Amino acid sequence: MPDSGTLSSGKPVSSVRMEDVIRRRKTVKVLAEEDLPALDRSEAVKRLLELSGWAPFHRPCDESHRTADGLPGIEPWRFHVLDAATCRRLRDRLPEENAGKIPAMLAAAETLILATWLPNPPAEPDGSLQVTGNLFEPTLANMEHIAAASAAIQNLLLAATSQGVSSYWSSGGVLRTEAVFELLEIPDREVLLGAVFLFPDQTGNAQVVGSKLRGRRGAPEHWARWVALE
Ligand SMILES: Cc1cc2nc3c(=O)[nH]c(=O)nc-3n(C[C@H](O)[C@H](O)[C@H](O)COP(=O)(O)O)c2cc1C
Repeated sequence: MPDSGTLSSGKPVSSVRMEDVIRRRKTVKVLAEEDLPALDRSEAVKRLLELSGWAPFHRPCDESHRTADGLPGIEPWRFHVLDAATCRRLRDRLPEENAGKIPAMLAAAETLILATWLPNPPAEPDGSLQVTGNLFEPTLANMEHIAAASAAIQNLLLAATSQGVSSYWSSGGVLRTEAVFELLEIPDREVLLGAVFLFPDQTGNAQVVGSKLRGRRGAPEHWARWVALE
């Protein structure tokens, strides 16, 4: 399938001011009963990934995450990327119970990015990495790993928005399960931070919905204060 080079007919990034991109980013969920066309957007997605990687990060991830047979990066996050055809195949292999709206979104998505963060190994006597059940130590280092991974995800959302691409940061629901990690060969030492759906602009008969909290945002006066010192 030819790659158009851009993900949609949205404005190219050069003509869009950063402030507009930040304001225009919003949660868009597309729920399809019938599969939307599975177009190949790999070249455009590669650019989004490259931009995501410019997020700040304070500390390299633990050596145990930099495996010879896996991904070697020092970044405290990993992005596992599924194209549209793989999304459809994953949908077919999900359990029917407790999958919620994820199957309908996998039927619509152009891309799904399972973004994980990489906890440091707990200081267990045997030194083993025990993150099963998403357990990790409440350390400053782990907090900063999560923060850096979140910044990478926000970069991804902003880069997608700048390309006119709809996005949705989901906790993941059924995608967090051991079975899905195993199926997609995601190491269980990683913790899912966001299942980021990218949707096409042509949504056919699919249902398109927004988010719950967007309209409840407060002005900065609600969450920021100027600090005064005499
Ligand atoms: C860490 C994180 C997890 C989220 N998980 C979900 C989710 O599981 N389901 C959902 O409907 N929205 C989820 N959201 C999206 C928020 O609901 C949404 O960002 C919020 O309502 C504000 O709306 P906006 O993104 O349109 O500004 C998540 C957002 C973040 C940052």
